[in-house]
Amino acid sequence: MLIGGGGHGRVVADMAETTGDYRIIAVADDKFTAIELKSGVCYGPPAMVRKLLRTDIEMQAIIAIGDNRMRFMMAERLGIALERYALIIHPGAYISQYAAISRGTVIMPGAVVNTGARIDSHAIINSGAIIEHDAEIGPFAHISPGAALAGGVRVGEGAHVGIGASVIQSVRLGSWSILGAGGAAIRDIPGGTTAVGVPARPIPPYGKTIEA
Ligand SMILES: CC(C)(COP(=O)(O)OP(=O)(O)OC[C@H]1O[C@@H](n2cnc3c(N)ncnc32)[C@H](O)[C@@H]1OP(=O)(O)O)[C@@H](O)C(=O)NCCC(=O)NCCS
Repeated sequence: MLIGGGGHGRVVADMAETTGDYRIIAVADDKFTAIELKSGVCYGPPAMVRKLLRTDIEMQAIIAIGDNRMRFMMAERLGIALERYALIIHPGAYISQYAAISRGTVIMPGAVVNTGARIDSHAIINSGAIIEHDAEIGPFAHISPGAALAGGVRVGEGAHVGIGASVIQSVRLGSWSILGAGGAAIRDIPGGTTAVGVPARPIPPYGKTIEA
């Protein structure tokens, strides 16, 4: 079951079916006010999610919402056990056998996840992103297309690494921080901070955080 019926949801649905392991049988989104069956797929509001999961014990869910905060809030709202979430890895991604990836996460085509890397739940590793050895990606983080994280980088919960950005080895990006598109992080970025440029420097409002 797909939770999120927007553009990112369509990408995740396509990917999930490409793996050959999944078939989309339900789509939940706040934009649906009533439950409707169309071409064998059940469309309805998120309130139907828990009921459907109870009805079909084989069914797995994935929150396919691109925005990290919205994805986090939806997971909190649903309160589903992590075991009921799928882990979707496109067959065109390279995943080291020594990497560990939690459920709820989506890994897109062309991504590389190298040895010893750890990726927590509900993260997005987007097309062509590189996660080098021993890097750690927190829950609800998003590594955008073409971004490259060197060995031992740590990305906090809900952090967003922009498209084409890079992070040198062992740098830490704090929770809910943002590294802008094309930026290069050569120093740690504090939690809640947005940094841009090469090398990446914080832009106002400095130190903005969200309540966990
Ligand atoms: C960093 C980012 C979040 C900032 O967004 P914002 O808070 O709306 O900031 P603004 O667009 O108001 O820009 C603020 C300033 O930062 C600069 N800036 C913004 N993004 C920048 C970037 N990626 N690199 C360099 N400078 C950037 C702007 O030019 C502006 O500078 P100015 O004040 O001198 O005019 C956004 O620009 C970005 O890079 N997002 C990543 C998007 C992405 O990767 N999407 C992929 C999804 S799959």
